[in-house]
Order: sequence, then C-alpha cells, then structure tokens
Amino acid sequence: MIILDSACVEEHLKSTDCVELMEKTLYELAEGSCVQYLRTAINLPNTNVLGLMPGWFDGYFGVKTISVYHTNRGSGYPSHQGQILLFESEHGSLLAGIDATSVTKIRTGAVSAVATRLLARPDSSRLCILGCGTQGESHIDAIVPFFDIKTITLWDAFPEAAGALAAKAGEGAARGIDIRVCDTAEEAVRDADIICTVTPSALPVLCGSWLKSGAHINAVGACAPNARELDSEAVRRAAFFGDSIDSVEHESGDYLFPLKEGVITREHLRGTIGDILLKKIPGRESDDQITVFEALGLAVEDIAAAKYLYDRVTEND
Ligand SMILES: NC(=O)c1ccc[n+]([C@@H]2O[C@H](COP(=O)([O-])OP(=O)(O)OC[C@H]3O[C@@H](n4cnc5c(N)ncnc54)[C@H](O)[C@@H]3O)[C@@H](O)[C@H]2O)c1
Repeated sequence: MIILDSACVEEHLKSTDCVELMEKTLYELAEGSCVQYLRTAINLPNTNVLGLMPGWFDGYFGVKTISVYHTNRGSGYPSHQGQILLFESEHGSLLAGIDATSVTKIRTGAVSAVATRLLARPDSSRLCILGCGTQGESHIDAIVPFFDIKTITLWDAFPEAAGALAAKAGEGAARGIDIRVCDTAEEAVRDADIICTVTPSALPVLCGSWLKSGAHINAVGACAPNARELDSEAVRRAAFFGDSIDSVEHESGDYLFPLKEGVITREHLRGTIGDILLKKIPGRESDDQITVFEALGLAVEDIAAAKYLYDRVTEND
C-alpha cells in the first residue's frame, strides 16, 4: 500500500486534466457503469460533520472519509481533511491512502468546469466567486482556461479572504484578468455570466432578482438538506441540473426548500450533467436562459481521481 500526500496529489492531478477525467466519470455514472452510495454524514459537535463516501469505478473501489470543520476558519487548519482508501477489485487489496483535502479541492472545481462548459454561454466573460476559500481558488483555476474571462468579481463574508484570493489568483490562473473585490454579494453577481457559490453558509447568499438573463450558476457550497446558498427565486428562474438525481433529492437544500415552499415541482430538476453528456437531455436551450448546476459532490469523483493518481504514480514501477 502506498500513501500519496497533498504535494504528490498536486504534482500529478492537474486541474485541466482533472476536468477531462471528471467529464468521463460523470458520463460513466450516467451510463450506469460505476456505482456509488449516498454520503453518510455524521453530525459532530458545533455543526461539524464526518462524511463517508463509498463508490466503485472502473475495476477499483474505495471510500473517502472526510471531516468538514467549518469551525477551523482562521486556525490554519483546512476545513476539509481526510483520506481516500483505494482498493483493487480482483483480491480486494488496499492499494493506496490518498490525501482527500487536495483531491476534494481539485476535483470539485473540475466538476464545475465540466458543467460550466456544457451550460454557460460560450461568450461568458465575467466570472463571479461568492466564498473565497479553497473552492473559490479551485473554481478560478478550473474555469478560467475554458473561457475568455475578462473580469472576476469576488465576495466573501470575511473581506480579508476575498483580498487574499484576489492576490493569489492575480499571481496564478487569473494573471492579467481584472479582479475586483466587492463589498456585497449583489455587487459581485449583478453583471456576472458565471457565478460560483462556494460558501459554507446555511442561508441564501445569492438572490434570483440579482441575476442577469443568460447567467450560469455553479451551486457548490450547500451539501445538506438543511442548508442553501440560493434563494427560491434563483432556483425558480433557472433550468436546474445536478450531479446526481439521488444526491439532489436527498442532500440539496437549494432544491428541497423551494420544493417544500411550492415554488417548484419535482420536475424542475431536469437531469444530470452526465445525462447532458450522454445527450439524453438538452443543456442550455437559449442565450437568455438562466442555468444552475447543483453540485453535492460524489464518491465516484473521488475514486476516479484516486485511481488516476495511483496509475500515474505507479506507471514506471
Ligand atoms: N459540492 C462539493 O463537491 C463540495 C466539495 C468541497 C467543498 N464543498 C463545500 O463548499 C463550501 C466551501 O468549501 P471550501 O473548501 O472552500 O471551504 P473554506 O473553508 O476553504 O472556505 C470557505 C470560505 O467561505 C467564507 N465564508 C464563511 N462563512 C461564510 C458565509 N456565511 N457567507 C459567505 N462566505 C462565508 C470563508 O471566509 C472562506 O473564505 C463548503 O460548504 C464545503 O463543504 C462542496
């Protein structure tokens, strides 16, 4: 068994390669050729969570075990920490323990990039990030290479986080792009073509009345039925897609709150990104349509990334 730490993951799992890998994974999930179970989320004191995510992908299986500690803000510890255990399926042997902080960071931005390429207007030039932590950075890294982005607007409940991301992105993936730190979420969203909500907020940070026609939203931060980042109007106005039907129906407050309020019906969920890739359903249908990709985070994404990393690291042995 080998151990792959975060430095090894970052060396071998590049964001743009991960976008291709996630596209293949979501396609295979929709085809039915990989298997996963809903996340088991164990509530810990102070709203923290232990997540267990088992799955099977391409002859390998495994589980991601991850603690989600939003109380770590400002402590120097990441909010997500854990390991992915990767097994081979012939003898059931454990092959690798892989750092889950870095895989989660990279694969989540990559999955949103897959959705954004399918759903955002191809001429999108204004990217907005609400929530300027790990995922804010990862979403800039993953999305910027695929669009002619001219402006990035950043907002965070803690302005120093937005300032820090502006400095980091300006030195990296967003070099040469006009990056603006905004005082309010509304200011950041108003003109945006692509909006990523990547906060741990349990209450809406994005209002539907702020959205311009044709906008695309990646709603990534709220991964529990009692948490939402989008208000009901944002969901009502949008063509709504998810990463997995089962996950949206069980884990998505963004979907379940407006459903309970009677603002939308079950049919509002059009299907998954994999369904669009398989051409079972259409994606964006017009230039002025608003689209939402609801990302809950899937075990197969982690197992696919773990298998890719294991293959890359052992290929010359
Ligand atoms: N869907 C998925 O696959 C997936 C994967 C990873 C993380 N997530 C979720 O995405 C969210 C962000 O994750 P992360 O790793 O970037 O976390 P992080 O701790 O690195 O960053 C969170 C950022 O949000 C800011 N913030 C805190 N409370 C806020 C609020 N109420 N309103 C606005 N901003 C606020 C913080 O200042 C920080 O900059 C979390 O909820 C996490 O659980 C989802």
